[in-house]
Amino acid sequence: MERGRVAILVGSKGRGSNMEAIVRASQEPGFPMEVAVVFAPSDTAPAIERAQSLGVPVVVLPSEPEAFAQSLLREMAERNVDLLCLAGYMRLIPASVVEALRGRILNIHPALLPKFGGKGMYGMRVHEAVLAAGETESGATVHFVNERYDEGDILIQRRVPVLPNDTPETLAARVLEQEHRAYPEAIRIWWERYGKGRKASL
Ligand code: GAR
Repeated sequence: MERGRVAILVGSKGRGSNMEAIVRASQEPGFPMEVAVVFAPSDTAPAIERAQSLGVPVVVLPSEPEAFAQSLLREMAERNVDLLCLAGYMRLIPASVVEALRGRILNIHPALLPKFGGKGMYGMRVHEAVLAAGETESGATVHFVNERYDEGDILIQRRVPVLPNDTPETLAARVLEQEHRAYPEAIRIWWERYGKGRKASL
């Protein structure tokens, strides 16, 4: 069976738990895609060690946006990567990258978009906002990336209840568990719907 190839872009401060969930899922028999490379936006990203211990190659990208875009696109092409998954990456992806990889970049967000998304809405701030708004449910969203924060089409969502005694931390933990299921599931769906045919036609 021919497998597709995924790259994962982690955050400069992220733990890399979604990256690990994707790598572990990709090691299960029958998973349609393999992880070709992990991109890190800084050489101090905690996820680097985690990726290395999982045996996945890591490339640290330059921080200047133009150089970042060029290196990312070059590495994607050289490694024959089909899909880029953002996992804890908090900055806007340069427009040139979105343009070149339209329909081939996914992101995970720790809330039920379109609610609680947009610039500045990331990490614990999202869960604080969900609690402050008195929501009774939250969840994880995997969506396509376009030129604006958190606005691309939604691929899948997984929901969790918000409980009366939740703190941002307890809610974050419940959502994170679903993120780790949602991302591999979204990648499977992407491959079936968009990746498989494209690869066959290359
Ligand atoms: C995840 O909860 C992810 O949904 C969130 O950052 C965390 C990264 O954790 N992303 C955003 O808030 C994007 N707006 P991880 O490094 O353990 O995967």
